[in-house]
Amino acid sequence: MLRCVKPRVGALLLELMPADTAGLIQRLDLRVTSKNLPRAVENQLNDAFLVGGKKVRPALCFLMGQLMGLSAEKLTPYARAAELTHMASIAHDDVIDEADRRRNMPSLNSATSNAAAVLAGDLLLARVMSEISSLGNLLIIQDLANAVEDLVTGELLQLENRKKTDITFSALERVSSLKTGSLMSWCCTVGARLVNRSDELTHAAQLFGESLGIAFQMIDDILDFEVTSEKPFAQDLREGLVNFVVAELIHGDSTLASPVSKILGSPQPGVWPWTDEQLAIAKAEVRTKASERLADARKNLDTIRTLSGATGPSSDHALQSLEAVLSFLSLRIV
Ligand code: FPP
Ligand code: MG
Repeated sequence: MLRCVKPRVGALLLELMPADTAGLIQRLDLRVTSKNLPRAVENQLNDAFLVGGKKVRPALCFLMGQLMGLSAEKLTPYARAAELTHMASIAHDDVIDEADRRRNMPSLNSATSNAAAVLAGDLLLARVMSEISSLGNLLIIQDLANAVEDLVTGELLQLENRKKTDITFSALERVSSLKTGSLMSWCCTVGARLVNRSDELTHAAQLFGESLGIAFQMIDDILDFEVTSEKPFAQDLREGLVNFVVAELIHGDSTLASPVSKILGSPQPGVWPWTDEQLAIAKAEVRTKASERLADARKNLDTIRTLSGATGPSSDHALQSLEAVLSFLSLRIV
């Protein structure tokens, strides 16, 4: 069965890529060096924080760009920028969530300090701005600035939702679209901006990334209630957050709102106000909605292929890989 702890997911995703793209992703240079940067911070970033990860966002940059007929060489700096932006957001996110673990390692904030982690995130973002600006495509820079604004807005909305149980499914979709979909959309639109084909192509690529991002978040929320997951069971509740699964539980039985509000932020392990059957039904509902989003993404893939007009083996392989990623994600939630 494909559902498994996260470190294996990265390896499985790589297996779905054409061998040359998988190699590019594995070898992607994420090192950040700077003359004046304290050595300890530089080492912490390059030897621990920036190492590993599923590299979903670089994969999206490469595959979408290749689908549109672009070379890997042209896409590589954008793939790097995508992962560094993601890691900047993670450095900040772990401070906000007071997380002490990331990728089965001490998080950057716990290995250093909250102040150092915030500053390291700022440094990564500044580096991305500088590197992307040097490539000279203003629309791509503007899109990335908008994506970062969306990331921040999504986090701010999520902050407002903390300790609340009356969160609608559509409000959670909005947060997911902003905090997960926005950067994925950027990765998908880089290729469209570079080939400069049409606004329609950019829009279709953006919708693909958004649907994928929302499905990704829904799957993450289902995995939050799996004992085999890398993270502690019900971590979102621990952080005071009603996620997609809990929203669905309350939607199915409104009497759960009050007991859920009492455990938000400090649930007792193994003591839940819902039955196993209620949890299974809620997870199944979220699975159905994630599958619908993945189906939407697949439809956009066909549109992107047609609009880009790209042909040839590299584009064919990228299309097959993107389809395989969607299938893999569907399997991951069965
Ligand atoms: C992980 O969410 C967090 C994000 C995907 C985005 C975080 C964005 C910010 C903190 C805004 C600042 C952005 C930048 C670029 C500096 P999660 O907590 O649900 O996932 P997790 O379980 O992996 O922590
Ligand atoms: Mg977090």
